[in-house]
Amino acid sequence: MSVGMLNLQAQFRTLRDEVMAEITQIFETQSFILGSRGKGLEESMAKLSGMKYGIGVSSGTDALLLSVMALKPKPGDEVITTPYTFFATASSIVRAGARPVFVDVDDQTFNARADLLEAAISPRTRALMPVHLFGQMVDPAKWLAVAKKHNLLIIEDAAQAVGAKFNDTVAGGFGDLNCFSFYPTKNLGGAGDGGMVLANDDALAHDVRINRVHGGKDRYFHDQIGICGRLDEIQAAVLLIKFKYLDQWNHRRRAIAALYNQGLQGTPAITPFEAPGAWHTYHQYVLRVPKRDELMEHLKTKGIGNMIYYPVPLHLQKCFDFLGYKEGSFPVSERLAKETVALPMSSELTDAEVAEVCEAIRGFYGNGGA
Ligand SMILES: Cc1ncc(COP(=O)(O)O)c(C=O)c1O
Repeated sequence: MSVGMLNLQAQFRTLRDEVMAEITQIFETQSFILGSRGKGLEESMAKLSGMKYGIGVSSGTDALLLSVMALKPKPGDEVITTPYTFFATASSIVRAGARPVFVDVDDQTFNARADLLEAAISPRTRALMPVHLFGQMVDPAKWLAVAKKHNLLIIEDAAQAVGAKFNDTVAGGFGDLNCFSFYPTKNLGGAGDGGMVLANDDALAHDVRINRVHGGKDRYFHDQIGICGRLDEIQAAVLLIKFKYLDQWNHRRRAIAALYNQGLQGTPAITPFEAPGAWHTYHQYVLRVPKRDELMEHLKTKGIGNMIYYPVPLHLQKCFDFLGYKEGSFPVSERLAKETVALPMSSELTDAEVAEVCEAIRGFYGNGGA
């Protein structure tokens, strides 16, 4: 049997009646943008992460863009982040008029190293942007200590980590502006694009809220130049339905990860590391493996989905040439780009499918020896 990276059709089958009733209702009322469902989702997300305000936006990318815009950066102002992440983390910084500065990642958690932050701080640094990669949070205490000492804001890129925890802190619960993506493949995924910014500070929340509608508090009166970044009601409705199952689904992902870890024992694959205190939600289950490309080919011939996140770290992307980094600037990120592979992962994956993927990998490595 083939095993896909995810199985959104199976998830939809369990939610069909609820979802279709809501969609019908939205069409009956013809109220499509910024309505009661969006408000409900904002409240649910803010509550989950223990923040005061939720601001529903059009995507995770726009959540980040609006958050960096809220810093009102001047040309040359810097935001420190990781080069081993999705493109939007750094592109949002540039699009908002600031400059990304990268620090390398930890080779076990794949997250940016807090102990490298101070050396990267300059008089132009305005904010830190930790990314909770693949569903595992950075250690909030370490990032908060640096931010406090140097008077910097934190923008959490929690796009991949809805519901993840580090000790008692939930993802999106410790930064000043905290960003989520509801892209359909995310742990909480909509029926299109969607995102959320969480904040505690009144002024920052206000800024994001007005900038998602062209920078005007009152329609057709523009205090600043914002974007068209609203969340629509269809997304909010689907997400509110799915929100009820999020915790259950995240638990299932963790159970699947445990099955994978067990099933891959004795192979040369390095299974994901969970830092002490982290409650990983496995948006992706990512291995470090020898002979990565050959393994991927082998899985492909067996009909088993697999993916590289991310094949080229951001400091080596053509569009970021102007930042002046080169090959060797961030050796761990560069190595991970060559050694990692993501396996099928979704809350709908069955135990039998996990066993099949493990079996294929064991077969490739000859039951243990690469
Ligand atoms: C780490 C990270 N940041 C930002 C984003 C952007 O989110 P979206 O695709 O909703 O714009 C994503 C989504 O893939 C992501 O994984």
